[in-house]
This record gives sequence, structure tokens and C-alpha cells, in this order.
Amino acid sequence: MGTNNIVILAIESSCDETSAAVIVDGKVLNNIVATQSVHEKYGGVVPELASRAHQENLIPVVQEAISSAGISKDQLSAIAFTRGPGLMGSLLVGVSFAKALAYARGIPLIEVNHMQAHILAHFIDAPQPSFPFICLTVSGGHTQLVLVKDHLDMTVIGETQDDAVGEAFDKTAKLLGLLYPGGPLIDRHAKNGNPKAFTFPITRMPELNYSFSGIKTAVLYFLRDELRENPNFIEENLSDLCASIQFSLIQMLLIKLKLAVAEHQVKNVAIAGGVSANSGLREALGQLAKEKNWNLFIPEFEYCTDNAAMIAMAAHYKYLIGEFSSLEVTPLAKMKL
Ligand code: KG4
Ligand code: ZN
Repeated sequence: MGTNNIVILAIESSCDETSAAVIVDGKVLNNIVATQSVHEKYGGVVPELASRAHQENLIPVVQEAISSAGISKDQLSAIAFTRGPGLMGSLLVGVSFAKALAYARGIPLIEVNHMQAHILAHFIDAPQPSFPFICLTVSGGHTQLVLVKDHLDMTVIGETQDDAVGEAFDKTAKLLGLLYPGGPLIDRHAKNGNPKAFTFPITRMPELNYSFSGIKTAVLYFLRDELRENPNFIEENLSDLCASIQFSLIQMLLIKLKLAVAEHQVKNVAIAGGVSANSGLREALGQLAKEKNWNLFIPEFEYCTDNAAMIAMAAHYKYLIGEFSSLEVTPLAKMKL
């Protein structure tokens, strides 16, 4: 590796995955992820436990990324990190580490917006969407429709006004007695269930916005009433319940996506974020894309949930235009796209 190569180490610590990746000249060499299982029994991420786990895992994860890339720290051109949005304590671990390394090595620091990075995960491998495209970003903390005009030029055209869709998956899963994160478990049980077995509400918000808080309350009262009649109601109907909840959530996502694509007259459509790993959503989108003649882009599973490869990709584009941060940079829990 010569001095002309752009070698960036990227770290991600916004929520409950500690991750590091190395990218050389725009090509991601690795993506090391340490998933925190400590939150499973709490039904959600416990912020203090997440920060402690990041603190414990970050250095080993970075060392593995550096060594498996076959480079040494003095070959780094820059260090990138997630500035936000995310949990303050979790972000602080990554930001502090990145600042210290940049200062020690005298290399530029690159801050990355986590939501922008989820979308740029589409540029890690081929096929890559051409501009403009609409990306539906669906994660545990966000649900956004984004018009992507260029790698670093994106506009939010619609978003949730309350809970994120991942949160709706996780919270309804908790009501069903499933462990956190419940999204993948709902996905798995839904495969054996009938999506029409039960009807849950499809909330319609104005314009391109979403609301996912209603379904949680609807499921709560529905289960309360059914459990009064039959205490084994959940166990006996778990697959149908999961399939029906998932069906409503997917319908809500697709209604606004169709509207967004029609309004902005694009042909290229992408999804990103943790919930884009959902097999029901992938299948429904595949059918819709065929029907509507869209070019559909779905990232590899590895790049759907939180990872540093996507942070590295975003950092590469920022490096090319010299967009660096100062050593005074601080995390932004509510960073806007
Ligand atoms: O993007 P992500 O890893 O973290 C955030 O930035 O929030 O997304 C995590 C979310 C969680 O709510 C999790 O339940 C959901 O993605 N998720 C899924 C699936 N895999 C992850 N939801 C439904 N089906 C899945 N297969
Ligand atoms: Zn995320």
C-alpha cells in the first residue's frame, strides 16, 4: 500500500453494535461487528449497559479490523466515526476514541451521520443505484423516506411522527413475550403464519409521513381481551399473530413508498436500515417493484443492521471532497439528515 492510497478506519457505536471497518480507495476490506446480547432480557437497549459494552469491545474490534486488513495504524489517511443520531453515552465512546486517534496520529477526523451511512451502504458492493433514487430507511430509531440526489446530497421527504417501524416490531414482540430485538423473531414466526388471521390498524398520516405508535396499543388491547378468554392465546396463535402484525407494518411502509415514488417520478428505489433485513418486506417489495417496473436495491443482510462498513463508505465520499471535522467535535444524539 503506497502513500497515495486513501485508507480510512471507521467506527460505529451509536446504539448496541460496536463495529470497525477499514476502507481503501473506496473498497471496504472488512466489517467487524460485536453485537451486545446484554439487552435481550430487558426488551430494549439499556443505554448505560450499551456504553459499558462499547467501552469493552471497541479496542478489540478496532485491532481486529486493522490486523485483518493487513495494515498498520501509521498507514491511516483518516479516522471516521458516527457523530449521531444515537444514544449519547454510546456515541461518546466512539467519538472520544476517534478524536484521540486523530490527535495522536495527526490525521483528519471525519464525522458521519448514521442515517446517511445506512443509505450509502448501497455503494459498498454492486449493483449500485443511480441517482436520483428514493430510499426507505427503516431502523430501530428511524423511519424515513429520503430523496437521494447524490452520495452526500439527500432530502428527507417523509418520516415517522412518533415511533420508528423497528420500534413497533420490537415493542409488539415484547407484548408477545419475545426477547429483544423482537423484529427478527417476528420475521421468523411470521413465515409459518397467516397474515390475514387477525386485523390490526393501518394508520394513515398526511403526506409522506408515518405513525407506528397505534399498532402497539391495538395489539396490547387485543391481547388483553383474548387472554381473558384463553390464557394460552399467544402460544396457540404465535405465528398468525406475528404474520398479521408484520403484514400491517409492511402495508403502512409500502403505501407511502408508492406515493413517494409517484410524486417524485423516480425509477430507482432502495431500502436501508435494520428492518430491511425483514424477509416479508423484501418479498413484498420485490413483487411491488415488478408490478411498477422499479429498479429495486436491497443491501446484503450484513449491511442492513448497524455496521462500520457503511460509516467507512460515507467517510470515503467525505474524504474525497475534504469534508473534515475539528477536534472539538461532540456527539449529536438527535443529528438531522
Ligand atoms: O439499523 P439498526 O440495526 O439499528 C438502528 O439504527 O436502530 O436497526 C435495528 C432494528 C431493530 O428494531 C430490529 O428489531 C430490526 O431492526 N430488525 C428487524 C429484522 N432485523 C432487524 N425487524 C424486522 N425483521 C427483521 N428481520
Ligand atoms: Zn442504524
